[in-house]
Amino acid sequence: MKKVKLTLNPLDRRSKINKEIYSNFSEHLGRCIYDGIYVGEDSDIPNIEGYRKDVVEAFRELKLPVLRWPGGCFADEYHWKDGIGEKSGRAKVVNNWGHIVEDNSFGTHEFLRFCELVGCEPYISANVGSGTVRELMEWVEYITFDGVSPMGELRRKNGREHAWKLKYLGIGNESWGCGGNMTPEFYCDHYRQFATFCRDYSGNRLFKIACGPNADDYNWTETCMKRISPDLMQGLSMHYYTVPTGIWDHKGSSTEFDDAEYYATLKGALRIEELITRHSEIMNRYDPERRVGLIVDEWGCWYDVEPDTNPSFLYQLNTMRDAIVAAVNLNIFNRHSDRVYMANIAQAVNVLQAVMLTEGLKTIKTPTYHVFDLYKDHMENTLIYSHIENEEAAGGVPALSQSASVNAAGETVVTLANCSLKEEYTVEIGGAGSIGKAGGKILTGEVHARNDFDCPNAVGIKPLEVKTENEKAYVVLPPCSVAEIVLR
Ligand code: AHR
Repeated sequence: MKKVKLTLNPLDRRSKINKEIYSNFSEHLGRCIYDGIYVGEDSDIPNIEGYRKDVVEAFRELKLPVLRWPGGCFADEYHWKDGIGEKSGRAKVVNNWGHIVEDNSFGTHEFLRFCELVGCEPYISANVGSGTVRELMEWVEYITFDGVSPMGELRRKNGREHAWKLKYLGIGNESWGCGGNMTPEFYCDHYRQFATFCRDYSGNRLFKIACGPNADDYNWTETCMKRISPDLMQGLSMHYYTVPTGIWDHKGSSTEFDDAEYYATLKGALRIEELITRHSEIMNRYDPERRVGLIVDEWGCWYDVEPDTNPSFLYQLNTMRDAIVAAVNLNIFNRHSDRVYMANIAQAVNVLQAVMLTEGLKTIKTPTYHVFDLYKDHMENTLIYSHIENEEAAGGVPALSQSASVNAAGETVVTLANCSLKEEYTVEIGGAGSIGKAGGKILTGEVHARNDFDCPNAVGIKPLEVKTENEKAYVVLPPCSVAEIVLR
């Protein structure tokens, strides 16, 4: 067992860790919406107004702050008027992202009601690629306008008297790719036009999010920052997926991987820190006051489709490897919370690095879910200085990852990941001042360990012993583990 020191300085207070960093994303892809979230009121699956009860409750436990919808690539093919009114009369259209018939039974009302039940803010991603300015203008009016207007009347006719509050609006998704294959200059002009007509009727300040770069497309960021004023753009998105092999045509399996592939996956995940740093540097030049937040609204692991284990489009299994990836990502987002305003893991249920998987009546919380559960105490805290003595685990991956924050009550919250598959570490935590009480929780397991429908609690959170002595706390982190420590 090795010993390492983690040094904190709760007096060195940095940025606020917005709760929005712990957000999620739900798309009309595979079985995310239908089956995963929405089963209809007549289903045998226990539901609240047609929404899976277990999923609603699980998201409430996580205190999910924001849910993005309806895509993804699907957003730029989505016409919102197809999804309102009597369900029997709703349009049945082709969903090109999974090649399924979209019956539009889950539309604007259903999404906004789900957010109400979960207690999260809706983040609507609007159609720029194949939609019109008028279509979007009317959507915003339909959702947020309480007075007399054609869209307000239509909403009332469809059963909703009062307007909803809408805070987050994304204007276009991956406009450099599936959202229209646009050049950044062309997109910026479109953005300015669309954003101008999205009026803020709900009394909130509508937080408008521009489509940002794909991974390391720094020119895209530069162009958006140069051409769009922060008065018109409160957020700029970035998408980055972790692909174990780094090759999109052969991404790797979600469950079958060796140590080398595990470390390659982590190396890929850790790259996001360099991307955030470089995009932030560009944004800092144009926006030194940090009025525009970086919105990492799609991130996570993406594996190959495996016919045996993938019963639906982009369904993948989730192991302790995914938990470690989630943990290091969230530590990075926390440490960059001066610019990273929101992050939305892809996706909520049954798609990519899902926090939940469903099969008929059964639902499992994945190891990734448990990481969000461990980290939720950081929400709305203030990031503080932290430094950990580190060494390479293997394949260029540092063994340990950390972030630390203080909450309104003055308690210190530390999250740690031990990425090593071999080494156990005793971490000495110093610098936090006098420690009254200390508590800890841990998620650990063999790197391939996962929850499945027959054994849904194989991987779960357990108590972690925290010893204290002379203003120091000590925890033991086994290989492949994620921990939360609270010092009171
Ligand atoms: O999350 C799956 C897809 O990945 C989304 O539809 C798209 O935005 C991205 O390419």
